[in-house]
Amino acid sequence: MLHIEKLTKAFGPNTAVDAVNIQVEESRMIGVIGRSGAGKSTLLRMINRLTDATSGVIHFEGREITALRGPDKRAWQSECAMIFQQFNLVPRMDVVSNVLHGTLNRRSTLATMFNIYPSADIHRAIAILDRLGIADHAPKRAEALSGGQQQRVAIARALMQDPKIVLADEPIASLDPMNAQLVMQDLRRIHEEDGRTVIANLHTLDTARRYCDRVIGMREGRVVFDGTPEQLTTGVARDIYGADASFSEDSTSTSIETLDRGLTRAVREAEAAV
Ligand SMILES: Nc1ncnc2c1ncn2[C@@H]1O[C@H](COP(=O)(O)OP(=O)(O)O)[C@@H](O)[C@H]1O
Ligand SMILES: [Mg+2]
Repeated sequence: MLHIEKLTKAFGPNTAVDAVNIQVEESRMIGVIGRSGAGKSTLLRMINRLTDATSGVIHFEGREITALRGPDKRAWQSECAMIFQQFNLVPRMDVVSNVLHGTLNRRSTLATMFNIYPSADIHRAIAILDRLGIADHAPKRAEALSGGQQQRVAIARALMQDPKIVLADEPIASLDPMNAQLVMQDLRRIHEEDGRTVIANLHTLDTARRYCDRVIGMREGRVVFDGTPEQLTTGVARDIYGADASFSEDSTSTSIETLDRGLTRAVREAEAAV
C-alpha cells in the first residue's frame, strides 16, 4: 500500500531523514518515536508532500507520490490528511466552518471567499462532530474550546477529507493526560472502524505501546527499530532515545495508563454536556 524507499531529506549539511525504508502492506496504526530532532516531523511532511524529498521515493497504491505536481499533488494531500500538535484551526471561526475547511481542495475560489458550502457538506460535518462527541460545540468559535476539544475538531476536519491515511504530528503533546487519552482513542477508532492507516509521531513510549500495532523508532534520521509494541523493550527504547544509563521509562511516560475506562467515559460525557 505505502512503500517508502531510501527517503532522504537534507537541510544543507544536516541530513534530517537518512535513507528511510518503510513498507506498509495493509491498514495499520503506526507510532513513530524518537527524541527531538530525530526526523519524525520531516518524515511525515515528506509523505504529505509539505516538504520535497532530497532523494528517494514514496509509492502509494501504485502511484509515485514523490513525483506528483499541481492538482495531483493537492489531490494526494486531501487523501493523506495531517493533524498537528497546535491544532492549526482558524481560532475566530466557528467549529463547523473549521471542519468544512477540510473540503477546501475541491471547492471553487468564489465559494470559499463567500463561505458558501453545500448543505450536504454541512450535514456531514455535523455528523462527524457528533461521532467525536463534540457536535454541541459546532456553532462556537474554535478558540472557545479546550485543547482536547480543538484537537478533536482538527480530527473532524481531517475526516471531512475522507482520507486513506491520517498523519498526526505529536497530536497529544500539548494536551493534559486525560485529553491525550481521548484524542488517542479517537485516532484508534478512525483506524479500527474506518480502516484508515494512522501514522502518529508520539513523544511518549507508553502511548505508542498502548495504541499502536507497530512502532517505528528513529534516531538521527534513520529507522533504528521497526516492530511490535511487545518487541519494544526498555533496552530497545534506550537505544532509540540514545540515552545513557540514567534513562528511565518514566522520563518519556505520561500517566495516562493509570486512568481507567470509567473515568474516561465520565469525562467524555461531561465534556459533551458543556
Ligand atoms: N526547515 C528546516 N530547515 C532546516 N533544518 C530543519 C528544518 N526542519 C527540520 N530541520 C532539522 O532536521 C532535523 C530533524 O527535524 P524534525 O524532523 O523536526 O525532527 P523531530 O520531529 O523528530 O523533532 C533537525 O536537526 C532539525 O533541526
Ligand atoms: Mg517534530
